[in-house]
Amino acid sequence: MAFYTLKLRDDDVVEMIDQRKLPLEVIYVELKTYKEVYDAIKDMIVRGAPAIGVSAAFGLYLGAKSLLESPEVKDYKSFNKKFFDIADFMFSARPTAVNLGWAVDRIKKLVLNEENNNSDLKTLVARIRKESVKIYDEDIEINKNMGKYGAALLKDGYSVLTHCNAGALATAGYGTALGVIRAAVSENKKISVISDETRPFLQGARLTTWELMEDGIPVTLIADNSAGLLMRKGGINAVIVGADRIASNGDVANKIGTYQVAVLAKENNIPFYVAAPLSTIDIDIKSGDEIPIEERDVNEVVSVFGKRIAPENVKAVNYAFDVTPNKYVSAIITEKGVLYPDYKKSIADVFRK
Ligand code: MRU
Repeated sequence: MAFYTLKLRDDDVVEMIDQRKLPLEVIYVELKTYKEVYDAIKDMIVRGAPAIGVSAAFGLYLGAKSLLESPEVKDYKSFNKKFFDIADFMFSARPTAVNLGWAVDRIKKLVLNEENNNSDLKTLVARIRKESVKIYDEDIEINKNMGKYGAALLKDGYSVLTHCNAGALATAGYGTALGVIRAAVSENKKISVISDETRPFLQGARLTTWELMEDGIPVTLIADNSAGLLMRKGGINAVIVGADRIASNGDVANKIGTYQVAVLAKENNIPFYVAAPLSTIDIDIKSGDEIPIEERDVNEVVSVFGKRIAPENVKAVNYAFDVTPNKYVSAIITEKGVLYPDYKKSIADVFRK
């Protein structure tokens, strides 16, 4: 892969590819403060559930480091108070992807653990850095494991439809749904991908096509409303998508439009697979009804690349995600193996292990 999604450089600058500009421009931005990382998540310079989680972890490290210079921070107690404010701020950047809260909680837990260790603040901040890099490294490892399990579901010659971008760009690297495709290709299976354009933010048209072409994996772009026809014509063997949050009963929140793809897949007897790390599963919620759905600026709907396409003052709504009920999900591919219905049971089992 000739690109990377994000990294924490040795000089403590977070560098990330600007996903709003792809594929027309390949530009990396440099972020030096936790506020800049927050803005990058909110404005979707970086997006995709696992990538948001990793970014938040790096952002918290930058925030923690800045506290070392704050005159108000003298001891663990004053550090802790300010750090938790930064953590709450980071958490509020986007509501649906549970990986953001998961990463923030993981760093918060580390800070709380240090309370009894009497370590100096510099050592504590160094530990936060180490933990954030660990979250980054683990994410790539997890994606590769998911790929290994998921590839077994894809046969040589399969044409696979995907929605949004659940690739290297949505993670620290390799990808969830696209990671499974990468793994199948690396096993010498001939896999071709059909990418939904994914209006309004066009993650499919702009990002999925770009990153697959970078890797030489055959991809065909379709308008979102073409999936049904293609399925009926027999041109699609499987659907594979990522997820932003999975409830403990297997309901899946993912990019807006995923639900209709899942219903179409069931209607046409096509398996609908979800690839997601365990950090995307929210075992604290019973069903998808409890998942907060982000609403974004309607300008994303009434305009394309800043050019208005709808009448002035037209009413518009812009939900960024939808929930696919578990009955449409054929399997959930995780780093610990493939889960099948009954998801209430299979999800509970995998967390018990
Ligand atoms: O709004 P986005 O681009 O952050 O939404 C991303 C998705 O919906 C992805 O499919 C999901 O995060 C899985 S990424 C591995």
